[in-house]
Amino acid sequence: MRVAVIGTGYVGLVTGVVLAQLGNHVICVDNDPEKVKKLRQGIPPIYEPDVEDLLKKGLAAGFLCISDSIEEAAENSDIIMIAVGTPPGFDGAPDMTAVKAVASEIAKSIKHYTVIVNKSTVPVGSGDVVEKILLDAGVKPDMFDVVSNPEFLREGSAVYDTLHPDRIVIGAKSKEAADKLVELYHPLGSPVHITDLASAELIKYASNSFLATKISFINAISRICELSGANVGDVAKGMGADRRIGDQFLQAGLGWGGSCLPKDVQGLIKTGERLGYNFELLQAVSDINEDQTANFVRRLERRLGGFEEKTIGLLGLAFKPNTDDIRDAKSLVIIKEILSKGGKVRASDPIAEKNVRQVFPQITYLKSAYEVAKGSDALLLVTEWSEFRGLDWDMIALLLKQKIVFDGRRVYDRGALEKSGIEYHTIGS
Ligand code: UGA
Repeated sequence: MRVAVIGTGYVGLVTGVVLAQLGNHVICVDNDPEKVKKLRQGIPPIYEPDVEDLLKKGLAAGFLCISDSIEEAAENSDIIMIAVGTPPGFDGAPDMTAVKAVASEIAKSIKHYTVIVNKSTVPVGSGDVVEKILLDAGVKPDMFDVVSNPEFLREGSAVYDTLHPDRIVIGAKSKEAADKLVELYHPLGSPVHITDLASAELIKYASNSFLATKISFINAISRICELSGANVGDVAKGMGADRRIGDQFLQAGLGWGGSCLPKDVQGLIKTGERLGYNFELLQAVSDINEDQTANFVRRLERRLGGFEEKTIGLLGLAFKPNTDDIRDAKSLVIIKEILSKGGKVRASDPIAEKNVRQVFPQITYLKSAYEVAKGSDALLLVTEWSEFRGLDWDMIALLLKQKIVFDGRRVYDRGALEKSGIEYHTIGS
């Protein structure tokens, strides 16, 4: 099939390279000339496993091309996917400016029947907004259909998730449009859920908000564990064994970050407000998340007797492993708090360092956990990269100024650290 994907961020680029790999003719469009230039050379603007490989293969095989022109893309496609960013606006509701601008451009370019797919995470009702933009621009109703086809990929495993989705959600008003997408995704062999537009749009927000709720729930339980002497790992295991609950997203830690969960939780709260529903549960989910990191930092501060003149070593800066994304990363909150109270920070991350450097040029960036540990008053695990899992604790104990480790991701074995003379603190036990 002939597909155009507008926007080459995580969702757009991954979707584009995967669809090309499946044998579709794909045009990926971006309005950033620098990105277009690099993409044409096979260099992705994001770090994501397997993307570079698929990009190069798609370009070489002629199934993928990169363009800066929506007009060119519209002329040569039967399906146009809108995958531009919807960052939180000043009030927390998603900013739809880019989606609307792309819809207006499509309206100017459309010459044959086209299925226009909202792949960006957009609030319920956005499909109608896009439809209205086209109709207002004079495009005839029989020239297009708008479909909602939300994406459920995770950063760090985006290509795998796109190739093996648990479900494909297609929200459409017309059967013809829904069928086109069913055909497009047929090679994946995944279950397809066809719904109306609004339901598909809401499935995305409800899914991300439910995942955030699960994490905040277990994090709240972790606090009860700390107060009662229970172990949140055992509690989560016992809970997760109930198939009605499931064992995923029950890993207690510093809380959820990234470009999606925080934005979508706020987005759904705002949608509720707009429609006249006060989603108090989600506000609590968000508050628990913030306090989870704050409480961890308070515990560290108490243990060290304040941050003044102290050096804290951070392992991991990205919001989660296998990505260089630092949007809403817990490391940023922790660094800010330590610096504001007179402490110094040494940090290491396999790939996110360059991004954090832009925000905090004043901290010391190092290449390994051992360099970070050297002279630090405490070592904090913030992102559970595999590089930070199998450490030599005798060596770390020798390097640390004070033998204190705070594990924000519940990765380390208390016994192993204590054997090396290290005082171990974690979350929920
Ligand atoms: C999330 C969803 O998982 C995807 O399905 C969705 O497509 C994506 O948002 C999106 O809307 O684009 P992502 O933000 O890449 O994916 O990352 P997750 O793996 O969901 O992790 C989010 C955060 O939750 C991370 O900070 C992670 O450390 C934290 N987390 C996750 C926990 O603290 N505990 C867990 O058990 C799981």
